[in-house]
This record gives sequence, structure tokens and C-alpha cells, in this order.
Amino acid sequence: MAGVDKADGTGRECPNGRSFSFWHVTKKQFARKLYLCGVNQRTEVMKNKCTSIMKERFTSLLLSTGRRGMDSVLSRLEEAGFFEAPASTRFHLNRKGGLLEHSLNVCDAAMSLRERVVGVRPELEAQLPVESVIIATLLHDTCKADIYRPAIVSQKNDAGYWEKVPGYQVDYSSMPLGHGEKSVIMLLKWGLEMTDEEILAIRWHMTAWDLAFQSPEQKESLTVARAKTPLCSLVQCADSISTGLLER
Ligand SMILES: [Fe+2]
Repeated sequence: MAGVDKADGTGRECPNGRSFSFWHVTKKQFARKLYLCGVNQRTEVMKNKCTSIMKERFTSLLLSTGRRGMDSVLSRLEEAGFFEAPASTRFHLNRKGGLLEHSLNVCDAAMSLRERVVGVRPELEAQLPVESVIIATLLHDTCKADIYRPAIVSQKNDAGYWEKVPGYQVDYSSMPLGHGEKSVIMLLKWGLEMTDEEILAIRWHMTAWDLAFQSPEQKESLTVARAKTPLCSLVQCADSISTGLLER
């Protein structure tokens, strides 16, 4: 329907008759906002401003799905510290707001991959709804929202000497429940309505890295989930590309 934003990524007719994609307009606006706020000038003020722009985009994407329970999820993420948390202690995006940035990177990577996959295999489009891609990518690491604590850590400087610097350490005491399964359980407890495909994609987003070593049942479940649900492979690939190639 003209004039109403939809999270279908397929574009819509704008009032002047030219078609445009909701998804791409949002990305361009986001990039422009980052440019205007001086993303290259990494002062504390600028970093906070960029975090608030990323938070705005994260929130509006999730709300665009219209999914029941999303308001509750957003306020519980805020309470748990999701928007300030790093993405890791020593590896990718180990800085304030890193988890938020990583989640958006995974979402963008998955949307690009989806476009390519659907171009080659149009029959998969119905199994990869845009709202499911948004939910499964932006919320896959919900389990990390409450595990990082600021700490002074040892780090090698450019000259090769160890020095003490502000960083993070992990503390699993809030809910020691694993990784992908913890994200799913937290989201369900917070009242989010999810499809089976979204649950499987979040549960298995780490692939074999999240398997109990002695559990043949888990190995078989992972294999079946990947065969049954294209969303699993999409989220796994997008997470891996973001972590391994895009983020430092
Ligand atoms: Fe991740």
C-alpha cells in the first residue's frame, strides 16, 4: 500500500510514482547519518552519538516486523545492558556498543546474501521472509547482553610490551545456560512470538562450535535443522562473515 513502510524488502511505489526499496533507503539514511555525525572522529561524544543512531536503527528494524512481544524484548535488552555491551572480550568489536554494531552487521550481511540466494533460487523466497531475517540476525546474540563486565586487562601495545588497559571480562552468573539456546530461552521468557524457523536459526547460529561434544542427539538436530530451514544457513554465514571479515 502506498505511503506505508513495509519490512518486505521488495520495494513499494512512492507517491511520485518511482519505486524504491524500503531496505536500501533505510541503509542509505543510516550511512548519511553516520557521515554527518563524523564517524571517523572517534571522540567519546561522537562514539556515543553513533551508538544512539545504531540503536535507533536496531529498534526501528525490529519494530517494523510488527511481531508481538517486541516492545517487551526491547526494554529487557535495555535493562540487560545489550546496547552498551561489547561483541567480545578480545576478538571482534571488543568495545562499548560492539554487540549492537555486530548485530546490525549480521543483519546487513544476511539481507545481501538473501538477495543473492533468492536471485539464484526464487523458490526459497517464501522460506526467507524479511521479518524473520531481521529477528533472527538482530537477536541471535541476545545471550551476550548480560555477560560482560568492565575490567582492567593486560594487552600488548604497538611496541610489543604488555600494559594494563580498560577492557572487559565475562561473567556467566546471571543465566549460565549456554549460547544459542540461551538467546532463544531469554526471548521466549520475555514474551516474543517466534516462528520455528527463527528459533532454529538462533539456536544453531554457531553451527558445530555450539555442540555438546558427547551428544549425538545435538549433532543430528543441527544437521536436520540446517536441511529443513534455509534461515539457519543464512544466519550462520552472515554471522561468520561479519565476525571473521568485517569486524576488528
Ligand atoms: Fe554473532
